[in-house]
Amino acid sequence: MTEQLSLWQAEIQSCQSLRDLDEIRVRLLGKSGEITALLKTLGALPPEERKEKGAEINHLKTVVAETIDSRRYQIEESELAERLIKEKIDVTLSVTPEAVGSIHPISQVFNEIISYFSNFGFEIATGPEIEDEEHNFSALNMPDHHPARQSHDTFYMMPDEAGIRKLLRTHTSTVQIRTMRRQQPPLRILAPGRVYRCDYDATHTPMFHQMEGLVVDKGINFGHLKATVIDFCKHFFERDDLIIRFRPSFFPFTEPSAEMDIGCDRSSGGIKFGQGNDWLEVFGCGMVHPNVLKNCGIDPEEYQGFAFGFGVDRFAMLKYGIPDLRAMFEADARWLSHYGFSPFGGK
Ligand code: PHE
Repeated sequence: MTEQLSLWQAEIQSCQSLRDLDEIRVRLLGKSGEITALLKTLGALPPEERKEKGAEINHLKTVVAETIDSRRYQIEESELAERLIKEKIDVTLSVTPEAVGSIHPISQVFNEIISYFSNFGFEIATGPEIEDEEHNFSALNMPDHHPARQSHDTFYMMPDEAGIRKLLRTHTSTVQIRTMRRQQPPLRILAPGRVYRCDYDATHTPMFHQMEGLVVDKGINFGHLKATVIDFCKHFFERDDLIIRFRPSFFPFTEPSAEMDIGCDRSSGGIKFGQGNDWLEVFGCGMVHPNVLKNCGIDPEEYQGFAFGFGVDRFAMLKYGIPDLRAMFEADARWLSHYGFSPFGGK
């Protein structure tokens, strides 16, 4: 009988599923099971034998039942462990595809512009957003009390003990100065970044983004500037028939200075390029003023340069039909999923 018991125990131990285990249980302990049948044989035995045999069979029954129970527990445990691995839910992942993060239109446009200009050897340059008057104004040919300083609605900090006032830079032209003071020409840089002016309506926010371009080399002329910005605009807005004009303008740090406008049609409510009689101002630009070169230790007789600057947010609004600038910075997930871009490319 012990031999029979070890055979059954081995069978139970090697059993792999709850269903097979249950079959074994029914076969051995069920109403017409093998052990139940053994118990039924007791009645036919003489009383003294019956006692001994009965205890033996009952022991067999108990051991088999215990073995089945402990095997059931093992199988349940390993099935659970397997399920936990298989059905693992990573709560750090978004549940629905719509909830996947998207690239903000401004980041997208920054990337588009940077990848275009890097084809032509422009390097990225940066500077601090908390600036001083020297880099934001003085070195850019706007000495103290120059009227152009007023036009920028500057955010000033409290003056320090020495009476020096820091400010939030009002344009990325500060990076022109920082780069020219650090590096000798030839220079070809693109300076993306945040700038600040005290202004707020549908097309102005107190913080916005600019992109500055600067090229300094021997023999640079206005033709280089025109070709660079015209080709860029055609590429950016993906049309060859853009109508472009340069209008004389004034910036203290460029001479001559110009503003570049794109011809458009606004009669339908939206904006259409390549047609119409309206103009949209997009770029400030010009030849780097000889005083600015001198302020940075560059000889204007030897080197010339051109510079341009434009609002990146504005470019994003125009290209992707975004009506209100303020919504760009509200971090509204619905807005982002509508206007944002897939991190894997495409819309
Ligand atoms: N810094 C000017 C602005 O913010 C733009 C500009 C840049 C003009 C470079 C000329 C050259 O309006």
